[in-house]
Amino acid sequence: MNAGPGLELSGRTVVLVVTGGVAAYKSAELARLLVRDGARVHVVMTEAAGHFIGAATFQAITGEPVWSDLWDARMSNGMAHINLTRDAQLVLIAPATADSIARLAQGRADDLASTLCLARDASCALMVAPAMNRQMWEHAATVRNINMLRSDGAFVIGPASGEQACGELGPGRMVEAEELHDAVCAHFTPKVLAGRRVLITAGPTAETIDPVRVVTNLSSGRMGYALAREAARAGAEVTLVSGPTGLDCPHGTVRINVRSAAEMHSAVLARYQACDVFIAVAAVADYRPAAPSLRKIKKSADTLSIEMVRNPDILAEVAGRADAPFCVGFAAESHDLDGYAQAKRLSKKLPLVVGNLVADGLGGDENEVVLYDDAGRHPLQRASKPVLARAILAHLSRMLDR
Ligand code: CTP
Repeated sequence: MNAGPGLELSGRTVVLVVTGGVAAYKSAELARLLVRDGARVHVVMTEAAGHFIGAATFQAITGEPVWSDLWDARMSNGMAHINLTRDAQLVLIAPATADSIARLAQGRADDLASTLCLARDASCALMVAPAMNRQMWEHAATVRNINMLRSDGAFVIGPASGEQACGELGPGRMVEAEELHDAVCAHFTPKVLAGRRVLITAGPTAETIDPVRVVTNLSSGRMGYALAREAARAGAEVTLVSGPTGLDCPHGTVRINVRSAAEMHSAVLARYQACDVFIAVAAVADYRPAAPSLRKIKKSADTLSIEMVRNPDILAEVAGRADAPFCVGFAAESHDLDGYAQAKRLSKKLPLVVGNLVADGLGGDENEVVLYDDAGRHPLQRASKPVLARAILAHLSRMLDR
């Protein structure tokens, strides 16, 4: 295996329909995220949307003309309502007002947005992100309309609960752009891990010296988080046991926060039996101070020695159990990657090890890794961590399916 798969949005075309709600400002950011990840985005605005946001904003972000008029003559055959979805795989309505949802449920076709939804073919999915006042969301008519859309095959994302533009509190806020972007990525990700339960450790650990000091390392946690996010998008049920990082919990995963290797050890041992796959990405401190001080250590002598004792090897312990899940380890080495990674694979009894040279990796956005399994070494092309995560999971899923 050589090249990893690209980001899920490259080569995709999305029609983003913006209807008239305050949340339209979030749709500009959503369009930016979709375009950033390689999607071609055609924006369609209803007349009411124009009261909240300008077409020029979307045109600048997407680099494409913005559409709103059913009778727009710019499309060569004058049929924007047909042509816009013909090369698209997804129509995403964000924000979707109560009125636009009602009109969709009825199959109305009296403006460009509603007509193109009706005229799209079966290969083009429909995703709806409702945004409205909580009373409108909870009204029997809206409940009926949303159920109707669902039974027609639409995916409904949200709404979130919280403070509303009108000042009331409750369900009806459009979910944030990042979450919608994630839902779009998940929609396009092949479900190679559907039904699998995956446990992942990520980040550094922090070993207490005294109440204000720890021994830690430079792991950013990004590789583990990318794997967690991509595994969830690929259909897995993901639990992420994370050391201290500044990263947001990936959508669709359950995160357990820990600090020390000992905490990570107990969090993993309490959960591994409920998992099919264990991926140990965390840079676990191999040693911890033997006797952490309860009080802050005051400076006195010119040198300070702290006695350190070994931490348990979480991965080796899980992999050594009779009821071990499929275990994946990481090996970050400064030299002789093949030798050390293969030795780690054999000594820890791992079916799969992901190796990288630390000079290329720790903390960076990109990495170059080699997969080691019974069949030998499989180098992956240098790529961003999300792209590598997808390639690693694709390899893993093939091994699980064997
Ligand atoms: N690991 C673990 N628990 C530990 C140490 C490591 O689960 N206490 C896991 C890491 O998450 C990673 C792999 O084991 O998947 C790394 O192996 P390891 O031999 O510990 O790497 P290094 O600490 O770099 O080892 P060495 O000092 O031998 O190079």
